[in-house]
Amino acid sequence: MPKKKTILDLHKMKKSGEQAAWVTAYDFPTASFAEKAGMDMILVGDSLGMVVLGYHGTVPVTMEDCIRHCQAVRRGAPNTFVIGDMPFMSYQVSDEDAVRNAGRFLKEAEVDCIKLEGGVRVASRIKAINEAGIVVMGHIGLTPQSSGQLGGHKAQGRDDIKGARAVIEDALAVEAAGALCILVEAVPPEVTAFLARLLSIPVYSIGAGRCDGQLLISADLLGKFEAFTPKFVKKYANVAEVETNAFKAYIADVRAGVFPGEEHVYRVLDPIEEFQALFAEYSSK
Ligand code: KIV
Repeated sequence: MPKKKTILDLHKMKKSGEQAAWVTAYDFPTASFAEKAGMDMILVGDSLGMVVLGYHGTVPVTMEDCIRHCQAVRRGAPNTFVIGDMPFMSYQVSDEDAVRNAGRFLKEAEVDCIKLEGGVRVASRIKAINEAGIVVMGHIGLTPQSSGQLGGHKAQGRDDIKGARAVIEDALAVEAAGALCILVEAVPPEVTAFLARLLSIPVYSIGAGRCDGQLLISADLLGKFEAFTPKFVKKYANVAEVETNAFKAYIADVRAGVFPGEEHVYRVLDPIEEFQALFAEYSSK
């Protein structure tokens, strides 16, 4: 069993140019498969709102949802660096709220790190959480919780130099506030690669090209989420097809009387005549 990585190991990987591979997971089995496969980190993303709970976005996701799913993931992947994602309204109101809610992830779900969205505007939150002794990952570029303000789930920092400058300013603010790593979402690869050189903390990408490591949503890479597939996703399996075909085969077997077969039942252990006598007793009542 490989040793669980710490934030120091992730920093060493950046220094040596070793890429980190990580995915989201929300449940015990997926987390255990990710750990078995050798994933460097697991994010319990608030994307659980869409891919697990069936909401249209991440906004309805609560602290209780996140804690419950982090607990399941921690049980499934006890030796993997787990990141808890702070849901909408768990850190937007005040630094105090942010610290209290970040602390819940550690106390109740034993995560290794928390992630929150935003750059310059959440710098004081990052600073406060960091000062409480909690490892913070920043998340800049496309920030789904504020996608309304961004005009939808749109790539950031690509339309003009002003946008790219804003992404760079956000990255610098996040690092200066004390985040120990940062995720960049849906930003041009040139900007992300520049950030990876500029910052001393690891810079990870989801849909933002190559840097210090890559994140994908497990439901996307496994082919389990059919509502939409972003351009940056590479599908490594079609689990939706496998599951649907398995369900169809089961329905067909049940309807045809093929399932359960002899191998799926628990035959009586006492002589069958005694059971038949019991049935006869009740049938004659
Ligand atoms: O919730 C999540 O899975 C995320 C990714 C979109 C980066 O935050």
